[in-house]
Amino acid sequence: MSKFCPIEGLDHLEFYVGNAKQAAAFYSKCFGFTNTAYRGLETGERKTTSYVLAQGDVRLVVSSAMSADHPIAQSVLKHGDTIAIVALEVPDAANAYKQAVERGAIGAIPPTEHEDEHGVLKYSAIRAFGDVLIKFVDRTHYPNNFAPGFVARRSVTTSSVGIRSIDHVVGNVELGAMNHWVEFFVKTMGFDVRMHFDEHTISTEYSALMSKVLQNGNKTIFNINEPAKGRRKSQIDEYLEFHNGPGIQHIGLTTDDIAHTVTQLRQAGVEFLPIPKTYYEGLEDWVREIDVPVEKLAELGILVDRDQDGYLLQLFTKPIGDRPTLFFEIIERHGSRGFGTGNFKSLFVALEREQALRGNL
Ligand code: FE2
Repeated sequence: MSKFCPIEGLDHLEFYVGNAKQAAAFYSKCFGFTNTAYRGLETGERKTTSYVLAQGDVRLVVSSAMSADHPIAQSVLKHGDTIAIVALEVPDAANAYKQAVERGAIGAIPPTEHEDEHGVLKYSAIRAFGDVLIKFVDRTHYPNNFAPGFVARRSVTTSSVGIRSIDHVVGNVELGAMNHWVEFFVKTMGFDVRMHFDEHTISTEYSALMSKVLQNGNKTIFNINEPAKGRRKSQIDEYLEFHNGPGIQHIGLTTDDIAHTVTQLRQAGVEFLPIPKTYYEGLEDWVREIDVPVEKLAELGILVDRDQDGYLLQLFTKPIGDRPTLFFEIIERHGSRGFGTGNFKSLFVALEREQALRGNL
């Protein structure tokens, strides 16, 4: 873990959306999240509406604006629904801010203490790529409520689909900007670069991308992608065009039972990237023993990858909004700490098929 900026894990992800009530219903009914807290007109908040959604260790917040000139409304206009804030849990939000800004980060929210009957919540934020903020949250003296102004809600309980935690957060940046932003995480917050995928690892006939994996402690993993030059527009280029710049591309969510989770998600109407049946031909020959039968994997469209540490099972949703930008990955790890390098090729061919359908390849 970084000495000057210790990070205890991901506190939450905040989405800026056009309609928080409907987004909350989507994450509840389709993804199995439970609405645990609310802030809006009924609680005395006049400018924004927010719902907190929880499942396992994952906490999402969806927020919308009440007026056109609010920054959330401006964000929705520019990006569509997007993850605007990645909040990290830290032991000292003022120190994290001070250290990051001294090392070159641009401050967004100076160290702030917000007190109410639940205690004192301390936070601060810096700017990352695009319009994304990295927020530092210290809950030491605020353990029992999401944030001041929020009222706990237990009325809308949905059944979990088995999502446990956030495995990794992936950002897309422009061609040539990856190393700058990797350096930003290393320099300002003490992340280490753990892996590097070049355009030869991640390429198809038409397009390529490059990616670096950053880690701070065991819990917080960021991947940064940039497009590489190819014959046609890459998935990263498509993202950058429709998102109007860099931003969060996908979130990897862990489960202990991917077959169960994916069955539930599919039943609820979540759409996944279709994987050709040929992917499963001969799969048994090289993956060796895994917990889920290959027929089940094929039925649910789950991919397998194996490395020296073990194996992983994964699959990817289609974009969750109208724009081909943000999506989710569901991942079950059995030892492997990788990201499914063996699947990159078939995955990107599948992605390009979708891109072509959208007229974007
Ligand atoms: Fe991923």
